[in-house]
Amino acid sequence: MTTPMHVDVVQDEAALAECAADMICELVTTKPDPVLALPTGDTPVLTYERLVRRESADSVDFSRMIVFAIDEFLGVPRDAPGTNSRFYRQHLRLRVRALHIPNPSAREPEAHIRAFAESVRRLGGLDLCVLGIGTNGHIAFNEPGSGRESGARVVDLARESREAHAAGFGSIENVPPQAMTLGVADLLEAKRILVLAQGEPKAEIVRRAVEDPPSADVPASWMQAHGGVMWLLDEAAASHLRG
Ligand code: PGA
Repeated sequence: MTTPMHVDVVQDEAALAECAADMICELVTTKPDPVLALPTGDTPVLTYERLVRRESADSVDFSRMIVFAIDEFLGVPRDAPGTNSRFYRQHLRLRVRALHIPNPSAREPEAHIRAFAESVRRLGGLDLCVLGIGTNGHIAFNEPGSGRESGARVVDLARESREAHAAGFGSIENVPPQAMTLGVADLLEAKRILVLAQGEPKAEIVRRAVEDPPSADVPASWMQAHGGVMWLLDEAAASHLRG
């Protein structure tokens, strides 16, 4: 059973960042102790810059917000260049109540990431899960082949994902072959989901995720099973949509 997803198209990257920041701030100012999952990647960088600016202008207080990462590389030290923990430290420079990131050097990574997903549930689940989409259709590190019921787990990274992170790790050889991720099923438990995509290189995969029947070939298409998803796209990323 799927429902049509809500798609909002704005002009460009700057408008997308303002709009995403508005949604996050609206939640933070209306819900006590909001629980959010926030992504890494190039896409949300400007959104986080907008949030930091609003905090410095004293217009929004993020100090009760609880943030969960959605994934992390495996087999590297915490805060090593290229890791998600390093990314949050660089870009999400907000005073939040807590920022939870899987430990990339966890000794028992399968148990670690399952416990991580469980700690989200113990807090009552995600009020808002913000996601990017990979050019191969992944959400978090649920690579093509990931099923609708997939849970938090260790995954082998697809070549495209490792290529996308080569710069952060210095070279593709340095990108860890594996990562820990929340599963598709974990993401679908969020009360609301906001998927961000910008730029022409995302246009075709966005079209497939939004308009084609859901399938493990494009894990982002599983979002069609959730009634509270909003896609926020710039005009370039929306340019292949037919609907
Ligand atoms: P990007 O990554 O924002 O760097 O394009 C998105 C993703 O892989 O989820």
